[in-house]
Amino acid sequence: MTATRTPAELLTEGELTVRGRISEASNAALYCTVSYEGQEAACIYKPVAGERPLWDFPDGTLAEREMAAFEVSEATGWGLVPPTVLREGPYGEGMCQLWIDAEADEGGRLLALVDGEEPGPGWKAIAFAEVGEGKTALLVHADDERLRRLAVLDAVINNADRKGGHLLPGGEGRLYGIDHGVTFNAENKLRTLLWGWAGEPLTPEAVAVLTELKGALGEGGALAVRLAELVTSDEIEATRVRVDALLESGRHPEPSGEWPAIPWPPV
Ligand SMILES: Nc1ncnc2c1ncn2[C@@H]1O[C@H](COP(=O)(O)OP(=O)(O)O)[C@@H](O)[C@H]1O
Ligand SMILES: [Mg+2]
Repeated sequence: MTATRTPAELLTEGELTVRGRISEASNAALYCTVSYEGQEAACIYKPVAGERPLWDFPDGTLAEREMAAFEVSEATGWGLVPPTVLREGPYGEGMCQLWIDAEADEGGRLLALVDGEEPGPGWKAIAFAEVGEGKTALLVHADDERLRRLAVLDAVINNADRKGGHLLPGGEGRLYGIDHGVTFNAENKLRTLLWGWAGEPLTPEAVAVLTELKGALGEGGALAVRLAELVTSDEIEATRVRVDALLESGRHPEPSGEWPAIPWPPV
């Protein structure tokens, strides 16, 4: 009998076969399967060779940033990023991430547009949005503890692209965040829809997790060692500074400008 492999082992060791290209993707993103001794899983493969150069992310690769985001997610214990590995594939080195079959109907419960000035019970306000013909509506996200954890993760990894399409409800109550190529910049680039808790106290759980992260990110800490392979030392130092700032303020970050920085398009 062969032992069952974990998703990460399967992603690393399995034979990678490209099944199709994801057309809406801005960088090359390929829908693939990995198979190994009768075990199979679907994944997304983003070869480094298919990355478009970004002036504000000149160092390393987007694939390594995706990997670094997974490492931080694992260190939180929240499991918010699907299993991700770096490996060789048919188009060379790239990142492979387990495919999450999103539950389409749950997506509608995470984001909404509402009339009026108040988000209503169970929702948190993001910003007012133009909805055509001179009308505005309030963009809101669910007051959901999984989103709240993701907001903390995004603040730590400095996510510049947390849009609606990057939230995947994965069944069994799981929620995943995907597409972490533009993260870990040393400058503040937080661009997200998840501003609903801005300025509010962090949950005690988040404070405990951030305290753990602080330890793991210290000189020689397990997470610091992993990240050193993936992002620059300046970017690791900036991550430490962000974690320290969160712990010091004890609050969710607030937008730096007058308007919250929201990815465009937001979905
Ligand atoms: N792990 C995943 N599971 C399920 N769907 C995914 C996963 N990763 C990406 N996708 C789908 O592929 C699309 C493109 O991937 P994304 O990571 O957003 O690439 P890009 O950097 O090109 O925007 C996503 O919007 C999503 O629909
Ligand atoms: Mg994307």
